[in-house]
Amino acid sequence: MNYPFWDVPLIGAGWVIGIISIFHIMISHFAVGGGLLIPILERRALALKSPEWMGALRRNMLFFLIVTGVLGTVSGVGIWFSIGLAQPAGTSALIHIFVFFWAIEWIFFLIELTSAAVYYYSWGRVSDRLHVALGWVYCVSSFFTLFVINGVLSFMMTPGEAWLKAGTMQEFSGAVLDGFFNPTYWPSLLIRFLACLSLAAVFVLMSSSRIRGEMEPALKSGILRYLLRWFVPALLLLPVGLFWLLYMLPEPQLNLLRLPELGLLPISMTVIFASVLTAVAAFLLVWPRPLKFTPARAWILMALAAVVVSSAEYSREMLRKPFVIAGYMYSNGVRVADVERFNAQGFLTKSLWVDEENDFAAGKAMFRGQCMICHTWSGYRSMNRLLKGRTRESLQSVLDMLHEYKPEYHFTQYMPPLVGTLAERRALAVWLENKARLKVEEEEEH
Ligand code: HEC
Repeated sequence: MNYPFWDVPLIGAGWVIGIISIFHIMISHFAVGGGLLIPILERRALALKSPEWMGALRRNMLFFLIVTGVLGTVSGVGIWFSIGLAQPAGTSALIHIFVFFWAIEWIFFLIELTSAAVYYYSWGRVSDRLHVALGWVYCVSSFFTLFVINGVLSFMMTPGEAWLKAGTMQEFSGAVLDGFFNPTYWPSLLIRFLACLSLAAVFVLMSSSRIRGEMEPALKSGILRYLLRWFVPALLLLPVGLFWLLYMLPEPQLNLLRLPELGLLPISMTVIFASVLTAVAAFLLVWPRPLKFTPARAWILMALAAVVVSSAEYSREMLRKPFVIAGYMYSNGVRVADVERFNAQGFLTKSLWVDEENDFAAGKAMFRGQCMICHTWSGYRSMNRLLKGRTRESLQSVLDMLHEYKPEYHFTQYMPPLVGTLAERRALAVWLENKARLKVEEEEEH
C-alpha cells in the first residue's frame, strides 16, 4: 500500500465514482451521438429547404454546446478527481500503460470542443456546405474520443492473454495494442455507439417536445418521427451488443453472473429489458400522436434511458471483480505480481504514515487499504451486517481463507486475497473483532 485511503462513509468511495460516472456517461454519450445526428439533421433541413427545421436545430445547438461543453467537461474532470482519490494505484497504472492514448484522447477532445463552438458561431456566416463539413469534423473527432476511451475501459475488463503474458515493462509496451484492442473492445464499442445514438435521440426528443404542436404541427411531428428512426433500432440492437460482449468474456468472469452476492444477473438483465422497454415506450408515446408528445413524456424516456445506462455501467464494473484491471491488479490496488512480496515483507511497510508497532493502527490500516474499496462499515456492503453474530473463530477462518486463496474457495471469485505478514493479519483480525463488538454494544445501549 503506497497511498493514503479516502474514506467515504455509507456509500464508499466506489459509489462516488459511480454517481459521477453515470452522470458523465449520459452527457458524453449524448455528445458523441449528437455529433452524428447534428450534421445529418442539418442536411435533412437543407434537403427539406425548411427554415423551421433549421431554426429548431440551431436552438438545440446552443443547448447542446452548453450541456456537453460545460457539464460534460466538468464531470469528466470529476471522474479523474474521484478515481485518483479512490483508486490511486489503478489510475496510475492506466496512465502509465496508455500514456500515448491519453495524449491522442486529449487532442481529439480539443478538436471536438473547438469544432462545436466554431460550428455554432459560424451558423449563417459560412456556406451551407462548409457548415455541414464543420459538423462532420465535430462528428469524427467526438467519435474518436469514444474510440480511444473505449480501449481503456474495455481493457480493464479483459486485458487479454497477450497483454497479461507480457512480463517486463518493455514487453508491456510492445503488447499495448493487444491490450487496447482487447477481446471486448469491439462489442463494447458497438454497445457504446448504440448508447450514444439513443442518448442523443432522447435529448433531442426532449427539446423537441417543447415545440408547440398547435403552432408548428408539421415541424413537431416531422422531427419527432424522424428521431424514432434512430432511437428505436439503436435500443433494440443494444442487447445484441451485450450478448456479444458476454460471449467474449473469459469463463471466471462469466461465472460472476451466477453469484447471488453480486446481484449481477438481475442487473444485467435489466439492461436488456429496460432498453427494449424504452424502445417500445418511445414508439408508443411518439408515433400515434406526435403532437401530444409533452416534456413530461420525454422525461419518462430520459428516466428509462438512465436506467439502461446505470445498470449497464454497474454490470461493467462488476464483471471484473475482484479486479480493477482483470488478472493484473485487484480492486484494492494490490497487483497480482506483488502478492508474494507483500506476504513476505509486509503490506504496511510502504505506508509510512502507519505506526506498524501499534496493532490497532495497523489493523485499521489493513482494513482501509485492503477491504474498504468494496466494504463500508455501516452502509454499502456493510461490515457491520456481514460480521454480525460471527464468533472469533469464524472471523479468523474467513480471513485465513482469504489469505490462502485456494481457487475452490467461493470468496476468491469476488474478493481479492488478504495479503500481509502473520502479524499484520492478526492485527486486522483483532481490529475487526473489536470494532464489530464495540458496535454491537453501542447498538444494545440505545
Ligand atoms: C473486490 C471487492 C471486495 C474486497 C476488496 C473485499 N471484499 Fe469482502 N466481500 C465482497 C463482496 C461482493 C461480498 C459479498 C457481500 C454480500 O454478501 O453482501 C463480500 C463479503 C465479505 C464477508 C462475508 C462473507 C460471507 O460469509 O459470506 C466478509 C467477512 C468480508 N467480505 C470481509 C472482507 C475483508 C476482511 C476484506 C479485506 C481483507 C474484504 N472483504 C475485501 C467484496 C470485497
